[in-house]
Amino acid sequence: YVTYRAIKPKLICNPSIKKDEAKVATMVNIEDLGDKTVYCRCWRSSTFPLCDGSHGTHNKETGDNVGPLVVKKKA
Ligand code: FES
Repeated sequence: YVTYRAIKPKLICNPSIKKDEAKVATMVNIEDLGDKTVYCRCWRSSTFPLCDGSHGTHNKETGDNVGPLVVKKKA
C-alpha cells in the first residue's frame, strides 16, 4: 500500500503566507464573527485566514484532503 507521505512528501505546510514572521497566529474576536465564517486550513488561500476555495486545487494537485474550518451560529 502507499502511505500519504509516499504520494507527495511535504516539508512544510505553509508555502507562502507571512514567511517573514516566526509564527503566523490569528486572533479573532467572537463578537466580530457573522452568522458563518470559513477559515482556511490548507495555507493556500489568497484571503488567509479566510478560505477562498484554493484547497480544491491543492487537493487535486497533491492527493491531499484538507478543507476549511466553518464557524457558524446555530440556526
Ligand atoms: Fe485553504 Fe479553503 S483555501 S481551506
